[in-house]
Amino acid sequence: MKEDFLKYQGQTSPFPLGIEIEKAEGSYIYDTQGKKYLDFVAGVSANSLGHQHSRVTEAIKSQLDLYTHVMVYGEFIQSPQVELCKLLSQTFPDNYSVYLTNSGTEACEGALKLAKRVTNRYEVIAAENSYHGNTQGSMSVSGVERQNGAFRPLVPGVRFIEFNNLEHLEKITINTAAVILETIQGGAGFIVPKNDYLLNVSKRCKEVGALLILDEIQTGIGRTGRFWGFEHFQIVPDIVITGKGLGGGMPIGAFIAKKQYMDLLKENPTLGHITTFGGHPVIAAAGKAALEEIKDAHLIEFTIEKEKIIRNHLQHSLIEEIRGKGLMLAAILKDPELTPVVVRRCLEKGLILFFLLFEKRALRITPPLNISNQELIDGCSILKEVLDDLHS
Ligand SMILES: Cc1ncc(COP(=O)(O)O)c(C=O)c1O
Repeated sequence: MKEDFLKYQGQTSPFPLGIEIEKAEGSYIYDTQGKKYLDFVAGVSANSLGHQHSRVTEAIKSQLDLYTHVMVYGEFIQSPQVELCKLLSQTFPDNYSVYLTNSGTEACEGALKLAKRVTNRYEVIAAENSYHGNTQGSMSVSGVERQNGAFRPLVPGVRFIEFNNLEHLEKITINTAAVILETIQGGAGFIVPKNDYLLNVSKRCKEVGALLILDEIQTGIGRTGRFWGFEHFQIVPDIVITGKGLGGGMPIGAFIAKKQYMDLLKENPTLGHITTFGGHPVIAAAGKAALEEIKDAHLIEFTIEKEKIIRNHLQHSLIEEIRGKGLMLAAILKDPELTPVVVRRCLEKGLILFFLLFEKRALRITPPLNISNQELIDGCSILKEVLDDLHS
């Protein structure tokens, strides 16, 4: 299989982790050799409920028995879509409505288009070192030139500011359609906003009539200890984009905006954003089941306790700091050369860790939200064992 994987399947890097998967269950993934791996990555923050959660698989099976794709998004009334949109909109204080997409990056595209439509402006302010997805609009607002350079020209009208720098907020002006930020910068190294940074961004946007778009694709759906990451910072953005954990392991995204804004996509021109498979009923059913389970099992509350367990168990002389919030954590090593070695050695010992996009010293720790405390301790012990070996 490995030879065919390398030969027939489009590759993303010269060094894929390359374990061959047999099955996955709970917090574990099993390879075809029968080896068991504890999953501290959760499909890069997507598998909030671990693998094969019965509530999600049952919802998928029930929906499969009724109907799968019946029509492009937005024409027929399909209860899994409506119910998922309702659940999500109820997490907002005002009247917000939800547009379901295929992926996070499509949600970002929809949000950027909506901001242009609402403001009749086109300039977008984004942050250096940000990541918002890999289609061309999302890439245009992602702030790492070594990734973007080879693909220019991208979408024009984007200006970058330094995340967490209040002085840069004056670049947000009456020409700005939207400011787009990750609530906690992911690829950059799980950088949490300082003090009142987001509050000041939000105020500045209001002053000049720009919209604030927060990318909650990774921070949303309970991962940071609140349902939305922005709830830590006393603001409510104009538009939120989400994905990853929303689907319970199935591919999904959504952009969420005040109802009066969202309604602009239906006229002048009509079909302002369209998608064939966005909100697919099987995936929406999985998403709804995942949201209900996260709520009923009180997983968000437990996230804070689990963060403490990781922080307590991961003190080591080779780790400079643990960054992030809730179960969106990164162990920042002192030496970036150690990162790939640690990931490989942990894999050999049965623990899956991963990298962050741009912070080369970071080990990603984003386990399922329902991982047990003992599993967390087991994983931390493996990581510490590997670090001890390297230290000696
Ligand atoms: C913060 C953030 N925004 C956008 C995306 C893009 O989402 P997707 O891969 O579903 O297109 C990601 C994915 O890693 C992300 O972490």
